Amino acid sequence: MHNLITEAVAHLRAGRLIGLPTETVYGLAANALDDCAVAAIYAAKSRPQFNPLIIHIGDVAQARALVQWNSAAEVLAAHFWPGPLTMILPRAEQCPVSLLASAGLDTLALRMPAHPMALEVIRAAGVPLAAPSANRSGRISPTTPAHVQEEMELAVAMVLDGGNCVVGVESTVVDITGAAVILRPGGVTREMLQAVLGYEVKDYIGEGVHAPGMLASHYAPHLPVRLNVQTVEAKEALLAFGPLVPQGAACTMNLSASGNLAEAAANVFAYLRALDRPEFTRIAVMPIPQEGLGVAINDRLARAAAR
Ligand code: TXA
Ligand code: MG
Repeated sequence: MHNLITEAVAHLRAGRLIGLPTETVYGLAANALDDCAVAAIYAAKSRPQFNPLIIHIGDVAQARALVQWNSAAEVLAAHFWPGPLTMILPRAEQCPVSLLASAGLDTLALRMPAHPMALEVIRAAGVPLAAPSANRSGRISPTTPAHVQEEMELAVAMVLDGGNCVVGVESTVVDITGAAVILRPGGVTREMLQAVLGYEVKDYIGEGVHAPGMLASHYAPHLPVRLNVQTVEAKEALLAFGPLVPQGAACTMNLSASGNLAEAAANVFAYLRALDRPEFTRIAVMPIPQEGLGVAINDRLARAAAR
């Protein structure tokens, strides 16, 4: 086994936190069976205790042992695991995962990440890992190891360097305790879910914090964010998309000059961070098509603009 993996596993077994690369964003990972380690995640993120964590597993057998598995889970796992899909299922009666990790809910959020380093660590550790995105609560999600170091340096025993995240937005969270409902749009689109489930998959609509990651002001940069801009002001930073970019911004970063939504998703959090500088007055954002991965990108941008 690779040295760094061995080191990461030793930290996890000792109840320490590590920065874990996944294909979506970097995670702040701990042994999900260890209440103290899970509590340390909440402390490091300054996260409200009611916001439950995603539990990362290394294979389907490990997932089955933790929840009341069902036929939708079977189909979705076959198509989308490993990958950017998180499934909400009822906890198994003897589920050993820390109750703190699911914030007292009787359900569990499960995901098998596609990053080879993440899978290697989970399998070597032999325990499921609780891992929210490795940012402070309400701030921009990290997509490079440097982002994790900046924000979580004191909280983590180490940050595994798995390069830049290729998906760039978090996993889709889908509740399959009944008919599938999307709690958070993400790397797997509604169309992809509908194609394999064979029925229309709706968004969760309702009162209260069903998926607290849905809090309005998530992903907030320090600067105000202005959406759907056609023109820019001289002191604004411009987050552009596509080939036709308005001129005159103080600084411009293009999510995808060719208008590719996958490329834009991979860049969105890193570019928001890069443009979030005091010399600018605002981050102006060009319109992103509301289709496919654009739905997840627009969801994050709307939350970045809400304050
Ligand atoms: O891509 C991802 O999912 C990343 C990487 C690190 O895997 N993780 C991530 O975790 O985004 P986090 O903690 O930032 O977001 C977890 C989301 C939140 O919206 C949370 O409310 C929801 O999952 N969630 C977790 N457990 C849940 C449950 N039992 N019921 C409903 N929602 C749940
Ligand atoms: Mg997060």
